[in-house]
Amino acid sequence: VIQKVASLITTYMRSLEFSKDDQGAFNGSPYDHFLKANHLPEKPAPGEHPKTYGERLLSKVQKLERDGKIQWINEGPQGGQMTRHDQAFHFGPTELEGLKIFYATPPQAPARAIHSIGNCAGCHAPPVFTDFRFHNTGASQEEYDFTHGQGSFLRLAIPEAAERARLTREELAQFAQIPDPNNPRKVDLGAWNQVALAPQGPGLGELFGQVFETLCSLIPTCTASQWRHYENAVIQASVGAFKTPTLRNLGHSNPYLHTGNRPRIEQAIQMYIPMGAMARQRRLRNADPEMAGVIINARDIAPLSAFMRSLNEDYE
Ligand code: HEC
Repeated sequence: VIQKVASLITTYMRSLEFSKDDQGAFNGSPYDHFLKANHLPEKPAPGEHPKTYGERLLSKVQKLERDGKIQWINEGPQGGQMTRHDQAFHFGPTELEGLKIFYATPPQAPARAIHSIGNCAGCHAPPVFTDFRFHNTGASQEEYDFTHGQGSFLRLAIPEAAERARLTREELAQFAQIPDPNNPRKVDLGAWNQVALAPQGPGLGELFGQVFETLCSLIPTCTASQWRHYENAVIQASVGAFKTPTLRNLGHSNPYLHTGNRPRIEQAIQMYIPMGAMARQRRLRNADPEMAGVIINARDIAPLSAFMRSLNEDYE
């Protein structure tokens, strides 16, 4: 588990290494070049919610389209081909279509949405494309149900705080495992394990605090100083939650998801089609509230993947 926490943190350190200009704006990817060439806002204004920024960005893009003024990107600092990725340095109509789905947010009645809605910025907050928080997208449920049958994760017994506190380290270990067809007790509950094991052992106190604080923020009334009062609620909220990864430079970080069972970007995004639908049908255990707003279909996979690849970086 310590290893896992460490790897979570490394992912986040990585996000600080992306190329930036002297104003501190990201400038390494075709997406960054597209924003700059079209004088589009590069990041949320101070205090602006990422989803509000996304809506603002979309309305500016719409205006550029109406005026026939969109500038496409076909070349980067190293020419037309990327040197660090096997792809062209390109941002064209398909990438823009993906951008629009990515930033689209649900209307009041999401069930009646006509256009595809990614709601992706709700967790993958620009410009780093992570909010540095934990969310349950259903990836663990999907993996568990794949092994043990639809609905099996919903039926799985997960101990509450008091019961969990009585378990030994060995007993707790079953909740941080890859599902096994021969042993239905093995499951990966993600952040639940960090909350579970954190109070034990030296050096874990600070990590426990960080994990607890970010999970506590999922519960409207929770404050970290009252952690004992919210302990059980936070433990429940941590079921199946994983830290949001950055979406920059995914070209160098496959396979995807904590399960590592998605070799291609297309496959990682594919997961959001059934998971969004299941969240709306309340069949996703402990679903993050943002998941019900993800309304995409098979036609959206190609443009969203092209948009993800436009976040790959090329610089010297
Ligand atoms: C509720 C928050 C949330 C929403 C909404 C969301 N994501 Fe994610 N995303 C995550 C989390 C958390 C992970 C890591 C899950 C895991 O490892 O199991 C992730 C993983 C990914 C990955 C794999 C990245 C990697 O390094 O493994 C991709 C690609 C991705 N999301 C794209 C999208 C797209 C596209 C959308 C919109 C259609 C979207 N996400 C919506 C939280 C979210």
